[in-house]
Amino acid sequence: MCGIVGYTGTRQAVDVLLDSLKKLEYRGYDSAGVAIVDQSIQLHKDKGVIANMESTLPRFTGGVGVAHTRWATCGRPSKENAHPFIDCSGNLALVHNGIIENYMELKRQLIAEGHKFTSDTDTEILVHLIERHYTGDALEALNQALKEVKGTYALVLVQKGSDHIYAARRENPLVIGLGVGENFIASDVTALLDYTNKVIYVMDGEVVDLSPSKVTIYDSNGSVVNRKPEVITWSAEDAQKGGFEHFMLKEIFEVPSAIHNTLLGNLDGVEDGTFLTNVDFNSVKIVACGTSHHAAMVGRYLIERLAKLPVSAELASEYRYGEKAKECPLVILITQSGETADTLAAAREAKRRGCRTLAITNVVGSTITREVDEVFYTRAGPEIGVAATKTFIAQLIALYLIAMRLGYAKKSMSHDSLRTMRNEMMSLPQVVRRVLDNADQVEQATDMLVSARDVFFLGRNINYPVMLEGALKLKEISYIHAEGYAAGEMKHGPLALIDASTPIVATVVRDQTYEKMLSNISEVQAREGLVLAIGGEGDAELEQVAHKVLYVPGVPALYSPVPISVLLQLLAYYTAKRKGCSIDKPKNLAKSVTVD
Ligand code: G6P
Repeated sequence: MCGIVGYTGTRQAVDVLLDSLKKLEYRGYDSAGVAIVDQSIQLHKDKGVIANMESTLPRFTGGVGVAHTRWATCGRPSKENAHPFIDCSGNLALVHNGIIENYMELKRQLIAEGHKFTSDTDTEILVHLIERHYTGDALEALNQALKEVKGTYALVLVQKGSDHIYAARRENPLVIGLGVGENFIASDVTALLDYTNKVIYVMDGEVVDLSPSKVTIYDSNGSVVNRKPEVITWSAEDAQKGGFEHFMLKEIFEVPSAIHNTLLGNLDGVEDGTFLTNVDFNSVKIVACGTSHHAAMVGRYLIERLAKLPVSAELASEYRYGEKAKECPLVILITQSGETADTLAAAREAKRRGCRTLAITNVVGSTITREVDEVFYTRAGPEIGVAATKTFIAQLIALYLIAMRLGYAKKSMSHDSLRTMRNEMMSLPQVVRRVLDNADQVEQATDMLVSARDVFFLGRNINYPVMLEGALKLKEISYIHAEGYAAGEMKHGPLALIDASTPIVATVVRDQTYEKMLSNISEVQAREGLVLAIGGEGDAELEQVAHKVLYVPGVPALYSPVPISVLLQLLAYYTAKRKGCSIDKPKNLAKSVTVD
């Protein structure tokens, strides 16, 4: 997501910081800023690329500073919302990655105490909160402030007239770089590799005090931690991928935090009605392209089930050919980039037809956010691999929350069932971690797919669109022809294509479709087709009917699209890897399709 670098030493900090910050550009950002400590704190920031900010940067001098690239989550991309932020007295400057959940409440208190704010961000409250406790010792003030904060952070703080840098971490990465007579801190080791390969990773709950000659790490009880430095042997390019071979794999492994962050920013709104406050519509249409369209199809099942509203899912490129219905539905537009031309055109058409519009997107300030009545942000972080992975799962999470919101607001869900679902949703990051722990078994299962010319993906009910997405993932990155099918439709055509050379991936969950899926698998077996089944842990029955079974943690069937989709993403990834394909940039495809 956003990038952080901090420096304390004998060089001109501004040179080190800009150089290091540029190493983080690959992560995606929309504004940048720097603060250099001298007798005062010198601050400069701007919207756009680092070079933009640099072109108007005054010649700041000083050996201590922080810099930041922001990828907007709270507050649109702008100069005002760029980091660092400075307190009212000008003693402190701070940068932050993460989300402060209780910032609205803290902001109200701080405004009442006389603090002045210049941005719409959650981050700015942190520097004022530290100022509230500041009596000359910034470390003490930071510790006090963190006790009042709910949410996640990697933050770095500098103080006027001091060569110390303070940092803290909760769920967002931070790494210390060790030099001789100088020390560094960054959100990502890539930023440091030109200066040092000796690093110490900061752990959750820790607070760090860096000076040019000393590094002290405190644990959450305030005790000093002694941790040995590690020597990094990766190249800068490897480091960008966090040690993963491809961005796609890194992004699949980021799914748990994408789910967590999407929930964190929006879960309370289900009850509070901070989104979809007014629900004066009686049907819903969900419109999107590609992978986002598959999320839309899953969303249809979710909203129909939880809110008992009629829902249709439509391709954005086809929406324009429809006619205005008698009653105007809520039109939900899903686009991770917020820039897909067909989805933008559909948003405009929906407005023209007088419908209310809500966009689900991952990019704050993207074009779609200016076209619709309401925006629901997924918080998956920037995605670099062309094939959507973590953003797809974050879209599913958004749709669960929207379905819960509509169910509750339309009174088809009780308060108790909402509470139960909240808890179940909170367990999903852990469910996905368990899928990722078994990635090697998924890799082995690619034996069944790697030499195939055609593969069918079968599912029913809510897992039918999940299998469409599984097929799309495989075809876009491995170039194997793959078709997703509603399992019941096999006998209406595709069965004619099944033989010993055509593997089938079938998902079998314990809901009302279970027996029917077993029959569909038998139909394939009878034509000598090889079946790779995906089922819930402990379902030994599947081993009797399939050639191979991959298990996902047993969750209620309603949530099964989440672990199954992650497993299918791994399956596509490892198949493409064995075929030696260009995984992050498949031929002929683009991450953002701005032509219709
Ligand atoms: C392209 C991308 C897909 C994506 C689709 C829709 O085809 O390669 O990964 O699903 O566009 O993109 P959107 O940004 O609107 O979700």
